[in-house]
Amino acid sequence: MENNNPIPMLDLQAQYAQIKPEVDAALMRVVASQHFINGPDVEALEHEIARYCQVKHCIGVSSGSDALLVALMALNIGPGDEVITTPYTFFATAGAIARLGARPEFVDIDPATFNIDSRAIADKVTPRTRAIMPVHLFGQCADMAPILEIARKHHLAVVEDAAQAIGAEYKGHRAGSMGTFGCYSFFPSKNLGGFGDGGAVVTNDATLANQVRLLRGHGSSPKYYHKLLGGNFRLDTIHAAVLRVKLPLLDSWSALRQEAAAHYTNLFAERGLGAWMQTPPVLQSRHIFNQYVVRVDGRDGLREHLKKHKISSEVYYPLPMHLQECFSGLGHKQGEFPESEQAALTTLALPMFPELTAGQRQRVVDSVAGFVEARSSLGRRLAA
Ligand SMILES: Cc1ncc(COP(=O)(O)O)c(C=O)c1O
Repeated sequence: MENNNPIPMLDLQAQYAQIKPEVDAALMRVVASQHFINGPDVEALEHEIARYCQVKHCIGVSSGSDALLVALMALNIGPGDEVITTPYTFFATAGAIARLGARPEFVDIDPATFNIDSRAIADKVTPRTRAIMPVHLFGQCADMAPILEIARKHHLAVVEDAAQAIGAEYKGHRAGSMGTFGCYSFFPSKNLGGFGDGGAVVTNDATLANQVRLLRGHGSSPKYYHKLLGGNFRLDTIHAAVLRVKLPLLDSWSALRQEAAAHYTNLFAERGLGAWMQTPPVLQSRHIFNQYVVRVDGRDGLREHLKKHKISSEVYYPLPMHLQECFSGLGHKQGEFPESEQAALTTLALPMFPELTAGQRQRVVDSVAGFVEARSSLGRRLAA
């Protein structure tokens, strides 16, 4: 029966069905308490996330975007400063830097992992550089050892954008635990997703943790006495309560994603599609597969073909940051970051979620193979 049903990118209803009694009870507990802001679940979640992410301090915030912003605010980053990051990311990374009046200084990506090319960072360090902001894209850590070494040498902060990578590891270290700050998103599509927007900042530095805590609540301490110019970056109690139900299940869900990813990769190899497409290499010790992203020629045609077969897919991301209209003032040109531009033209994310069945994966692979076969027979006919 499965054969004609649509295959979504992710299926949050299937996840909710597994944990409905616990989630509903947690929600009703918050409703009964009417303690919606800074309730006990927020503090409890912060301790649980800190333990899970192997860090000393965690501060729940309103989104992954705000986590990045408030981390940079705590570092006093502003006009005249430069922050090195990747152009091939979700907008929030570069957006947080630019919103504070600093300049995002882009370094192109490693085409194998789509993460910042750590070997190219040193050349971009100037006297104005204040921080490096690697992104652990799709759930796999950036190559952190050289990044941490450059940061140490030049006294730079490292802000890990781990929005897509909670629980991922680099040489046994959890994503977000290696830099000055780690930033997570609890957007519903993340491996640990809430019932709305949410995020967290983690750090091992007690002074910086206090700074973020202050900034999260308009910089006030005590109430109505404002030490710093902060904002309202709070995490709602309702989201914290839901996330506390989900966190103990996160590892099992990420393991199912890993299994699904390995299965996809094997099926593609068995169909002999290895030469035609790049399946995601697992180069770091724990890739949590927030997305399963392949690289193909003729990506847009494949997307149309999958759509006809009721298979969802997504392009992360169609336009790199240096070519975004709002960053035109940075003065970049087409061709400046060729690997990011190539990735934007060729990458395709396929359905990936813990409940994705083996039959669904087989259907996705069959459909991709059907597209390739149709294309090569067309090629043969045109050549004849
Ligand atoms: C790499 C990256 N950084 C930052 C964010 C921002 O997180 P949020 O949507 O929670 O604001 C996201 C979310 O999509 C992301 O993927």
